[in-house]
Amino acid sequence: MFASIILLWLCVVFLILLLKSQRPKNFPPGPPILPILGNILHLSLENPLKDFERLRKSYGNVYSLFLGTRPAVIINGMKAMKEAMVTKGTDFAGRPQDLFVNDTQKKGVILADYGSSWKEHRRFALTTLRNFGMGKNSMEERIHGEIDYTIDTLEKSIGKPFNPHVMFHNAASNIICQVLFGTRYEYDDEFIKVIVQCFTENAKISNGPWAMLYDSFPIIRGLPLPFAKAFKNVETCQNLAIRLMKEHKKTRVPGEPRDFVDCYLDEMDKRGDDGSSFEEEQLRMYSLDLHFAGTDTTSNTLLTGFLYLMTYPHIQERCQQEIDEVLEGKDRASFDDRHNMPYMQAVIHEVQRIANTVPLSVPHCTTKDTELMGYSIPRGTLIIPNLTSVLNEEGQWKFPNEFNPENFLSDQGEFVKPEAFMPFSAGPRMCLGEGLARMELFLIMVTLLRKFKFIWPEDAGEPDYSPVYGVTLTPKPYHMKIQLRATQ
Ligand code: HEM
Ligand SMILES: *[C@@H]1O[C@H](CO)[C@@H](O)[C@H](O)[C@H]1NC(C)=O
Ligand SMILES: *[C@@H]1O[C@H](CO)[C@@H](O)[C@H](O)[C@H]1NC(C)=O
Repeated sequence: MFASIILLWLCVVFLILLLKSQRPKNFPPGPPILPILGNILHLSLENPLKDFERLRKSYGNVYSLFLGTRPAVIINGMKAMKEAMVTKGTDFAGRPQDLFVNDTQKKGVILADYGSSWKEHRRFALTTLRNFGMGKNSMEERIHGEIDYTIDTLEKSIGKPFNPHVMFHNAASNIICQVLFGTRYEYDDEFIKVIVQCFTENAKISNGPWAMLYDSFPIIRGLPLPFAKAFKNVETCQNLAIRLMKEHKKTRVPGEPRDFVDCYLDEMDKRGDDGSSFEEEQLRMYSLDLHFAGTDTTSNTLLTGFLYLMTYPHIQERCQQEIDEVLEGKDRASFDDRHNMPYMQAVIHEVQRIANTVPLSVPHCTTKDTELMGYSIPRGTLIIPNLTSVLNEEGQWKFPNEFNPENFLSDQGEFVKPEAFMPFSAGPRMCLGEGLARMELFLIMVTLLRKFKFIWPEDAGEPDYSPVYGVTLTPKPYHMKIQLRATQ
């Protein structure tokens, strides 16, 4: 008797769960959902890329998946992406608030939900970065200053195989550190080593199987599983940031900001206790956010760039020809020179397209009930924009599946930028550091190509272009051979 009551009860619970795990009306299609598990069994946790490919083929450009009981909509292709990110930009400008990535950091801007605090902080960052010379000369100074160290490192490595991974990471990190904290760090400095280590580790964990389990099954969140490492990393970084803030407060002169942190402290003074969202804890996370967002992205793009330039030597040579011509008699490149370098511009953009550095962008979330390509999507739905699907979409590019600067050149050899060029995403959430990133990529690549020839070592075998999967894609480690160029 007792057993059959339990059995009956279990059946009822199962039925309820089964009913609950249906897609909402007119929701984008997807594979059948299991109670509690959702579609987790449809995905290989180690590398779900193949599964996604298959799902897109079966269900179309806008399809849905259930991570546990949480619905997610994946957006593929230029048409749907533009409708969501641009045309209905604000409807899709939220960030999910209870995912792994959110729990690893409490404040800041990257993962802040759509709202007044995010808006204020985004506007503040854009203005401050501009005042510190984004698009102006002083930022160029800073970047060139850092490039000098890169050149030193490369000169010391002439004649022996050199792995540029750490060098590019540190260069990108230092450039953003100068803006944020007014200092650069020696390449073997503990501070930078620890921060870079923490962030690269977290970037990998965030996209890994444990993060997916964390997101799907809230019940396991408190357990000492591998994702706990990520929280430890964040704490380490927070503590470093606390130390920096302390130093800044000791040495700053109000009204005479030296860097981003000073500007923020001034802004806090200005606003006083008017209940605004500017506060120290926010600043701490914010500077870590900007540092993180500006390091792995730029350096991985550079790594991809040099991998392709070495293995497509005729493209490297054509860049160098153009650089020599345009910069003849000049001390060094300035960002404005890009207008006279259509080929170089095309190459940098093609590198960004192929590098596909942030393949699934950063997760978005709907801010209200909305529609996309005729489907209804309720408020609070997790949105995964598949930038890869736009960057290599058939029909948008002359050569979608090969590395070819012609993708950005007109028949007359002028630089053109197709609408589907979206490595920085699009719309209200679009990358806030685009201006800085583009300046860095241009100045670093042009300056290094002018001075050095980069050669794929004979004994390195066939290059492997397939990247290591993560929030950001990283080329597999490789070595370069460096020669000083004769013509200068
Ligand atoms: C090649 C380099 C870079 C690439 C490919 C890149 C790409 C992206 C992408 C795809 C997003 C997500 C946009 C979205 O949610 O729709 C993003 C956001 C962001 N990026 Fe970048 N980024 C780069 C460099 C930088 C740099 C140098 C900075 C630092 C100044 C930066 C700061 C940010 C911030 C703060 C956000 C969050 C914006 C928000 O949520 O409102 N990025 N970036
Ligand atoms: C994103 O698009 C690429 C290329 O079309 C595809 O290979 C990949 O599986 C897609 N990812 C997701 C999550 O849909
Ligand atoms: C992260 O999620 C929690 C709720 O789980 C929320 O209270 C918090 O504000 C979120 N973090 C951010 C950055 O907004």
